[in-house]
Amino acid sequence: MKAVVYNKKASPDKLIFCDIGKPVAGDNELLIKIKAVSLNAADYRSMKMGLIPKRKIFGADISGIVESTGKDITRFKPGDEVMADLADFGFGGLAEYVSVPERAAIFKPSEISFEDAATLPLAALTALQALRDKGCIAKGRKVLIVGCSGGVGTFAIQLAKYFDAEVTGVCSTANIQQSLSLGADFVIDYTKEDFLKSGKRYNLILAINGNYPILAYRKCLTPGGIYVMVGGSLSQIFKSLVFGRLLSFGSRKMRSLAAKANGDDLKFLASLLENGRIKPVVDRKYTLDKAPEAMTYLSQGHSTGKVIITI
Ligand SMILES: NC(=O)c1ccc[n+]([C@@H]2O[C@H](COP(=O)([O-])OP(=O)(O)OC[C@H]3O[C@@H](n4cnc5c(N)ncnc54)[C@H](OP(=O)(O)O)[C@@H]3O)[C@@H](O)[C@H]2O)c1
Repeated sequence: MKAVVYNKKASPDKLIFCDIGKPVAGDNELLIKIKAVSLNAADYRSMKMGLIPKRKIFGADISGIVESTGKDITRFKPGDEVMADLADFGFGGLAEYVSVPERAAIFKPSEISFEDAATLPLAALTALQALRDKGCIAKGRKVLIVGCSGGVGTFAIQLAKYFDAEVTGVCSTANIQQSLSLGADFVIDYTKEDFLKSGKRYNLILAINGNYPILAYRKCLTPGGIYVMVGGSLSQIFKSLVFGRLLSFGSRKMRSLAAKANGDDLKFLASLLENGRIKPVVDRKYTLDKAPEAMTYLSQGHSTGKVIITI
């Protein structure tokens, strides 16, 4: 089969498009013929940190068709349309086929295209778990989403509106209209305004991108407010992990998210997509042979929504 394989140079544009052996489904696995895969920061960040998947193939968010099943599989059969989050199951999505444990996959609703389905798993799941599980989002809460225009942020705006919150997004000038069209009530252009010095207070802050001081974030919380570090620069991530707990004295809480693959959450998100409550924002589409180019583009940190590879 064709696949895009890591070649030890730790640079997104050095991935190699080549022929390798087709995997075989183990007893508890499905062999999936991949139709689409979307990229995530987790792909290039893992690569840069030397965290290389077993088969040296990145790509976690897939959709496709079950080609064959292992002998212990009862839930799926060949021909079923599925989607899966492989972030906790060894990646492997940048290929024509991948074998995955049964529990990693869910049925793809037939109304959703393979491409749309592949946008959801890691990005939308991260936004959901950050808002709902770590952020305790509720109706009427004032939510600030910093980095609202990327893969996670575009879903975060829509999910926060689904939960009836008041949403303020932070992005650069080019993405303001898009953020408003996704439902943000207010948008701050970080190239023109220092949103951490505006004096405004929020019940929930999602730090998805950028590199802003954790103490400044804390000052922007209302009493009882929650800050959730989702991502951003390595410095922002490090400071939140190290100092978050210390700074959670009093009623304001400074938390960090480590999203976990979860079939029920993925089913819930797929149902929201099916019912038109959320919609993916697709920035660019590439073919599999152009995946190194796609990874290079994403790793520059300014994609608008998701980057998809179609197979
Ligand atoms: N904690 C977890 O479990 C988890 C799970 C998934 C992802 N993550 C992390 O979440 C982060 C975001 O992922 P993603 O997929 O959304 O990335 P992405 O799609 O690459 O994000 C790109 C977006 O970030 C925006 N951005 C860049 N610099 C910014 C700044 N200084 N202030 C505000 N926005 C800025 C860009 O907007 P402009 O072009 O307008 O600047 C662009 O639209 C990454 O760090 C990733 O590692 C964490």
